Amino acid sequence: MRSTTLLSLAAASLPLALAQDDSLTSSKRGLCYVDPEENTQDTDVWDASDSDLTWYYNYEASPTDGIDESKLQFVPMIWGLPDSTSSMAFYNTVTGLMEQGYNITYVLGFNEPDGCVSGGSCIAAEDAAAAWIREIEPLKDQGVLLGAPAVTGSPMGFTWLENFYNACNGNCTTHFIPVHWYGNFEGLASHMGQVNGTYPNMTMWVTEYACADCELEEAQQFYNMSADYFDRLDYVTHYSYFGAFRSDVSNVGKNAAMLTQKGELTDIGAWYLGQQATGNKPKGGAAQVAKFAGWAVVVASVAFWTVL
Ligand SMILES: *[C@@H]1O[C@H](CO)[C@@H](O)[C@H](O)[C@H]1NC(C)=O
Ligand SMILES: *[C@@H]1O[C@H](CO)[C@@H](O)[C@H](O)[C@H]1NC(C)=O
Ligand SMILES: *[C@@H]1O[C@H](CO)[C@@H](O)[C@H](O)[C@H]1NC(C)=O
Ligand SMILES: *[C@@H]1O[C@H](CO)[C@@H](O)[C@H](O)[C@H]1NC(C)=O
Ligand SMILES: *[C@@H]1O[C@H](CO)[C@@H](O)[C@H](O)[C@H]1NC(C)=O
Repeated sequence: MRSTTLLSLAAASLPLALAQDDSLTSSKRGLCYVDPEENTQDTDVWDASDSDLTWYYNYEASPTDGIDESKLQFVPMIWGLPDSTSSMAFYNTVTGLMEQGYNITYVLGFNEPDGCVSGGSCIAAEDAAAAWIREIEPLKDQGVLLGAPAVTGSPMGFTWLENFYNACNGNCTTHFIPVHWYGNFEGLASHMGQVNGTYPNMTMWVTEYACADCELEEAQQFYNMSADYFDRLDYVTHYSYFGAFRSDVSNVGKNAAMLTQKGELTDIGAWYLGQQATGNKPKGGAAQVAKFAGWAVVVASVAFWTVL
């Protein structure tokens, strides 16, 4: 019942106009970094002087070699459950980075803990709460703002998060809420409306999103509308498009990729960096075996990419 109301509310507030040229740039934009494997030169695209991006995450606690920290602020993530129930590995890595002079002001919680197929970290809410209280919560006292676990965009995501907060019993502070979405723009807007309705006082980071397996025109239109939407919403403070990889290895369809099969910026890639369209058309590859099948399929872990 509740979600029906929220869906119609969100649908009523869809933007009427697409992005204008003057909205090509945005300080909210960051990089969701995916290892380019042998194409190491692709990493240089994102922190180039003509890139507009301001921050990045890489699904790990430690920064990526070759990304300029003075250009892109690193945001550590605890991807999955630590090996032991006494681990302080994440806490120690993050505080170690701060001691080395890294400007760590945010961390991200578990990646798709409600997802137990490719890409999800598949964690019981109780285990996540215990790990949170032990080694994430204390980072708050170091002045770090804490991002809630980034659940999938499916209904089970809401359930998982509710179970997590219940298991925390008031002992887990989350300063902002990351959101993932794969689908069309209307679905994205209504999902965000539902997140906002459920957690009305939390700012939002959209840390993975794309029109997965869409036609090129549709993927570009989705990109434009969502960038415009995020830029206009005060409660969205950060967003990172998925994704920063070549079209022939994309697991969300070739047209969502920011790089062509040759590593050149696509139109979406160029727009995302605050630049003019390139006209480069993304092509798929024979190796593109992973098929995206809607929100129930969880994408985007480092492990998944290794399998590819
Ligand atoms: C550290 O990052 C925060 C948040 O992005 C920013 O406001 C602040 O200016 C940065 N501090 C330094 C010393 O770069
Ligand atoms: C939460 O904190 C309270 C007060 O410090 C404590 O009594 C309780 O055991 C904690 N709960 C969990 C699940 O850690
Ligand atoms: C988000 O929720 C807040 C608090 O309920 C509300 O004031 C605001 O209008 C909502 N934002 C949108 C865009 O729906
Ligand atoms: C949200 O913030 C408002 C205004 O500060 C407050 O009245 C309300 O109780 C808060 N709601 C939740 C769910 O924390
Ligand atoms: C997307 O936005 C760019 C830049 O504002 C514009 O040139 C392009 O025509 C738009 N494309 C679609 C499909 O809306």
